[in-house]
Amino acid sequence: MLKVENLEVNYGMIKAIKGISFSVEKGEVVALIGANGAGKTTVLHTITGLLSADAGRIEFDGKDITKTPAHKIVSMGMAHVPEGRRVFANLSVIQNLRMGAFTRKDKAEIEKNLEMVFARFPRLKERVNQLSGTLSGGEQQMLAMGRALMSNPQIILMDEPSMGLSPILVNEIFDIIGKVKADGTTVLLVEQNAKKALSISDRAYVLETGRIVLTGQASELLNNEEIKKAYLGE
Ligand SMILES: Nc1ncnc2c1ncn2[C@@H]1O[C@H](COP(=O)(O)OP(=O)(O)OP(=O)(O)O)[C@@H](O)[C@H]1O
Ligand SMILES: [Mg+2]
Repeated sequence: MLKVENLEVNYGMIKAIKGISFSVEKGEVVALIGANGAGKTTVLHTITGLLSADAGRIEFDGKDITKTPAHKIVSMGMAHVPEGRRVFANLSVIQNLRMGAFTRKDKAEIEKNLEMVFARFPRLKERVNQLSGTLSGGEQQMLAMGRALMSNPQIILMDEPSMGLSPILVNEIFDIIGKVKADGTTVLLVEQNAKKALSISDRAYVLETGRIVLTGQASELLNNEEIKKAYLGE
């Protein structure tokens, strides 16, 4: 579904991504884990077309999207849940959700999709007319995920969904990611919370200062001594 080959991304003289390759198969949840500044957000922004690659190739659903603009990539079926949620604070919950469907014309299907999102996130349904800026952090995360689901994507890229949330909400958010997968959506999950990310993922890649240093089945990485020491605090 998604294939990244020898990707390099620079910010001026700074080499943020130094030639990485990875893939996500249809139906998988794949985690990209790494510490602050490893380059996780840079990778997601380059895939979604918000940044441009300096070298390498990105393929989505068999098509080369390395130079495709962001809005086209969205209409091809890729959704992005950005770091720090970024909901439209001055719009209501329902307005934010409808924004997620802006590339779609299938009105009846959009309404069905909305019901599906409300079923996934009952808290959003209770707050349809509330201004999004007044939602709690966890609710904003749910809204950002709901908004992404409103584009009916084939793949969702999530940037640190657990950031700044209480342990209970972190569990809730990860449960929902599991259900999104069960619904058949492919997920590329960027996280610093390696333990949680690995516990719901099929496979994972470990990113360190712009390079992939380790990859494997998530269950194997959870038991890997290096990973335990560096990322799981064990
Ligand atoms: N606009 C920019 N200009 C210059 N350097 C940048 C820019 N954005 C990011 N960087 C640098 O690129 C590197 C990777 O940053 P990135 O935001 O991708 O990391 P990250 O893994 O998402 O970190 P975090 O977990 O803190 O979100 C860092 O060294 C960062 O300082
Ligand atoms: Mg980041």
